[in-house]
Amino acid sequence: MNSIKNSHDLIYKHVYRSEDIDPVYIKSVDMISEKEVEEFVKKYKSAGFVVFELLNDSTNQNVMLKIAKRFKLGEPFVPNIYLSKPEIYEKSGLNIIKAGEGTHRAFQTINEQKIHCDGTIEPIGKIKTSILLCITPAAVGGETIIFNSVAAFYDLYENKESNSIMSSFLHFKALKRVAVNGEKEEYIGPSFLINNGEISSRFSLDNTCDWDFGFRNVEFLKEAYSLMTEKITPNSPYYIETRLKKNQGIVMANDKISHGRKEYKDGNSKREMIRGLFEIKLAYSD
Ligand SMILES: [Fe+2]
Repeated sequence: MNSIKNSHDLIYKHVYRSEDIDPVYIKSVDMISEKEVEEFVKKYKSAGFVVFELLNDSTNQNVMLKIAKRFKLGEPFVPNIYLSKPEIYEKSGLNIIKAGEGTHRAFQTINEQKIHCDGTIEPIGKIKTSILLCITPAAVGGETIIFNSVAAFYDLYENKESNSIMSSFLHFKALKRVAVNGEKEEYIGPSFLINNGEISSRFSLDNTCDWDFGFRNVEFLKEAYSLMTEKITPNSPYYIETRLKKNQGIVMANDKISHGRKEYKDGNSKREMIRGLFEIKLAYSD
């Protein structure tokens, strides 16, 4: 049995509560203070995400890049499958999420998107940080859903009765994800990984997932899947929702928690978000 170190207990044992979605206020992205950083990191370490609100900056791609710089996230990551698709990613390496002409379910439609980790065909743990910044909220709906996958996994894995079942998520054939909007590129790998006592996740349930592949190949995976999905209910300690307002954003530990989006309706102006992916873990969060 792989042992899990207690140094990450904060997130593994966290119970979501309404304070978790209270924003950290940022007075100026050019001068994010030590105190703002401290508050940011404290929330991030325990919840696996932090909501923030810009008090004086207007929301644009440059603002996202400045936040990334302050938290030492490096340059935005562009998945290989999108390098040849200029309509999906901007020159900055960020992408705009807005319903439009295209058919990309997540980026260009108003549909619900079930929980997932960003980076459909990236290896587990590759994209450690994902940021969303709200330029315009939806007229109705579009809430961001957060599920603390590593905490739900930890709870069931540490339980003697379910440990052997949960181990099936660690199998190298557990989860196949397919770039359904691309050339159907796919990646098969574990759903959870325990490395040096730290859990990483790519637990996802969205339309990119082919769980039947895993069920055919991995013993007890179906049972493990049932145990996990039972935890995804609005009153679960691992589940929380927030509706980002204009000038609010969310930074997520993409290798720890899963996120999704509820369907929405646009009014006169369309819901518009900027998204950035980063391979580096938020600095100071160890
Ligand atoms: Fe996403």
